[in-house]
Amino acid sequence: MSELSGRVALVTGGARGLGAAAAKALAAKGAKVVVSDIRDGAEIAAAIDGAFVKHDVTSEDEWIAAVQCAKDKFGGLDILVNNAGVFWMKPLPMESLESFRKMQQINVEGVFLGLKHSIPAIAERAHQWDGGGAVVNLSSVAGIVGAPNIIAYNASKGAVRLMTKSAALEYAGAKVRVNSVHPGIIDTPMMAEAAKVIEATTGQGANTTRDNFATRHPLGRMGRDIDIANAVAFLASDAAAFITGSELVVDGGMTAI
Ligand SMILES: NC(=O)c1ccc[n+]([C@@H]2O[C@H](COP(=O)([O-])OP(=O)(O)OC[C@H]3O[C@@H](n4cnc5c(N)ncnc54)[C@H](O)[C@@H]3O)[C@@H](O)[C@H]2O)c1
Repeated sequence: MSELSGRVALVTGGARGLGAAAAKALAAKGAKVVVSDIRDGAEIAAAIDGAFVKHDVTSEDEWIAAVQCAKDKFGGLDILVNNAGVFWMKPLPMESLESFRKMQQINVEGVFLGLKHSIPAIAERAHQWDGGGAVVNLSSVAGIVGAPNIIAYNASKGAVRLMTKSAALEYAGAKVRVNSVHPGIIDTPMMAEAAKVIEATTGQGANTTRDNFATRHPLGRMGRDIDIANAVAFLASDAAAFITGSELVVDGGMTAI
């Protein structure tokens, strides 16, 4: 029997990048996966015999519908991966209140709504599994250490880090584990878009940007989506049965310095 057979997972922002990789990793371990996104993720879902639901994480109604989709299609919910998120860089004087709030709405309120509407459903079945139910929140190294020009992102990922611990303590008694993952710079469409902005503003070439990204990590390369997907799948599994409220840093040593 596969490690996660019988479990049902919901992965937000699952149409591409780390969400798509996490959905595949969970499915490979035997979970049934609901892929949710504002972008079309039907192809990803079909490839892993899962389901796709259109879902904006800032909408409370759509969260309720996404959890209901997991119940209707696969009978319940055991794992939530709060992955959907956005990133942009702006120097502090250029960051408007509106733009700052927009990032908090997606990266913070989206995770809050996910915790609020998914954990009760996860708790209903958590006693069935040795490791209980599991929530994995995508924070970032930017949830632990600061960096210039990302004030809104730093704020949002710091909030995800501590919301994780709050929910973990509130639901430990219900056997629902809640942990955060903190990636370094990972080669996804999000970082490809960020690289283009850096190149447009500095005039540097794409190879220089990639080299700069790589050398930020003592292990000498950018992260790959599978590096993060493996961490997510581990935290979701019974192998992590005694891990809750923790932060798993997957950054090639970046924050060890
Ligand atoms: N790539 C990195 O280097 C990196 C590093 C640290 C943390 N992270 C975090 O990991 C997560 C995934 O990042 P990624 O690199 O795969 O990004 P990505 O942009 O490649 O993919 C993000 C997905 O989230 C979806 N999304 C955006 N807003 C949404 C909304 N309101 N509702 C539902 N879905 C929405 C997008 O459509 C997209 O499919 C994010 O939370 C990001 O902050 C990424």
